[in-house]
Amino acid sequence: MGKLDQALNIEDLRRLAARRLPAPLFNYIEGGADDESNVIGNTRAFERARLLPEYLVDVKSIDLRTRVLGRDIAMPLFLSPTGMSRLFHPQGEMAVARAASAAGTYYTLSTLGTTRIEEVGAVAEGPKCFQIYVMKDRDLTREFIQRCRQAGFDALALTVDVPAPSKRERELRYGFTLPPRINLRGLLGFARRPAWVAGYLRAPPVRLENVVHRIAQGSSDASSLMQYIADQFDPSVTWDDMAWMIEEWGGPFAIKGILSPRDARRAADLGATAIMVSNHGGRQLDGGVPVFDALGPVVDAVGGECEIICDGGIRRGTHVLKALARGATACMMGRPYLYGLAAAGEAGVAHALALLRDELERGMALLGCRSVSEIDRRHMTGC
Ligand code: GLV
Repeated sequence: MGKLDQALNIEDLRRLAARRLPAPLFNYIEGGADDESNVIGNTRAFERARLLPEYLVDVKSIDLRTRVLGRDIAMPLFLSPTGMSRLFHPQGEMAVARAASAAGTYYTLSTLGTTRIEEVGAVAEGPKCFQIYVMKDRDLTREFIQRCRQAGFDALALTVDVPAPSKRERELRYGFTLPPRINLRGLLGFARRPAWVAGYLRAPPVRLENVVHRIAQGSSDASSLMQYIADQFDPSVTWDDMAWMIEEWGGPFAIKGILSPRDARRAADLGATAIMVSNHGGRQLDGGVPVFDALGPVVDAVGGECEIICDGGIRRGTHVLKALARGATACMMGRPYLYGLAAAGEAGVAHALALLRDELERGMALLGCRSVSEIDRRHMTGC
């Protein structure tokens, strides 16, 4: 039995990823802002919530299907956008997109991805979403929208929780910053993982492929690209920009990073299809509300008008069930699939998805629910 088969849960995959990745990269995945209280708090909030099963229901057949952002998906869980995937495994975003397609669920490609929109569009037959920012260079934003349309993407997700860069101390400790300033500690981290280094050197150079053409010829090295992106974050973005983007795209549209019910109301009034309740995996404002605790008030404000996607801290099928019981339409996850990617490429991502699908299926049977629509607030205590 291979190491991957022995990974019984997401935590096992995390350990495999830690053994394979150089420390700067593993800590880039793991880290969050400041004290990382939200990284820890997101999962703890799911653990605090308690399910309330009902028995003597015929659960011979369990239906995990649901509908999100205009597409049917095979389970109420899909893949959040994460940057730089080819750093974690040479197969990068293509592996993730293929595994998501095979599992019948959405993949969300990040603006900070290392594979072209068009390549992901061509490889992934399943539902595809592109995570976008309103950048200072509005022409680049417009270009992304156009390219996503042509590449057959189903939806856009506008990230709104980066009005300013956060301070991620793990990244500073290793010099894995924007732009990179790798220090001795970082170099040692790479030196201790020769297998990763060999794979990295054999693969084509890792670049932010979707923005590389905006940089002057001859200065498209990783550091200039990172600096370009860092300069592109626009602190003056407002709701007017979101309204503009909804109009420009004209298709299923999610707003990602909402925690406040007032913001959710505003997004619903402006026509968002989905609200992604998220704190960027604890990587932006630290000391904020955990995602699961923010979910309920958002559901109460706009549930039924918008789809509500819960993103942050999910490590178990039962966490998804808790979010659904509190009114979410579906959940997203980032780190769990990156652990799989780092551990074993496409097979690792497929394994992460299979583990959670299995946990979901079993969890629904044990909860007494045959379909996603049967899960509701009576299946949880204290809400
Ligand atoms: C990118 O969005 C990150 O949080 O690193």
